[in-house]
Amino acid sequence: MTAGASDRTADRAGGPPRGRFITFEGGEGAGKSSQLAHLAERLRGRGLDVVLTREPGGSPGAECVRHALLGGAAEAFGPLAEACLFAAARADHVDRTIRPALERGAWVISDRFYDSSRVYQGDGGVAKEMLRLLEAVAVEEVRPDLTLLLDVPALVGLDRAGARRGGAIADRFEKEGLAVHERRRRAFLDLARAEPDRFAVIDATQSPSKVSEAIWRNVQERLAVAPPIEAR
Ligand SMILES: Nc1ncnc2c1ncn2[C@@H]1O[C@H](COP(=O)(O)OP(=O)(O)OP(=O)(O)O)[C@@H](O)[C@H]1O
Ligand SMILES: [Mg+2]
Repeated sequence: MTAGASDRTADRAGGPPRGRFITFEGGEGAGKSSQLAHLAERLRGRGLDVVLTREPGGSPGAECVRHALLGGAAEAFGPLAEACLFAAARADHVDRTIRPALERGAWVISDRFYDSSRVYQGDGGVAKEMLRLLEAVAVEEVRPDLTLLLDVPALVGLDRAGARRGGAIADRFEKEGLAVHERRRRAFLDLARAEPDRFAVIDATQSPSKVSEAIWRNVQERLAVAPPIEAR
């Protein structure tokens, strides 16, 4: 089966059991990219096929759009057009990468997904209803089973992101002021409160190993990870 828009209507009856879809969310420098890699290793240690991906991007078409979005070129189009570009990238990401992986039984872990659009584009002034409409078109039935929200005060995250970046130029979103980042943090926490079954909020001010343990506990409890191969 080729990946693409036609997959959206494909009959999946009789295929392998669907994999699981985990997303990492949170502000800049919260530790998403580092923790995602740890979690992937742990899941692979349980014999699972794990696909790591990211947004914006995650498929060749969406990576092209990423360049325009994070480089700032798309900012000139205005908030609604920018939100449409995020949605277009997401539709390609879902069709080419996420859905095919889930259908073959893989576990997919994405560094950001639609909660970031809800927060960042929502804060940018695009109406919530419009964002939910774009989201529904982009993802159809492909929604996360678990969203790990790595929560840190904006200042902590920005300090970490700045230290990691060294002398390199901040991207379109990192450049914004502290108050904006704090507002986004609260918006992420509001989303988590609204969907407690999907979200796990992790205190990401802790040491990397403590954060990693908290993530693993949540993944095991909520997604019923198989025991280690030697224990079966
Ligand atoms: N728990 C932690 N304690 C201290 N430093 C951390 C912790 N987690 C990550 N870091 C460091 O903070 C920096 C940012 O981490 P990372 O790149 O994983 O964050 P991120 O959430 O992916 O950020 P961005 O949204 O900017 O991509 C890295 O240099 C990383 O080593
Ligand atoms: Mg990152």
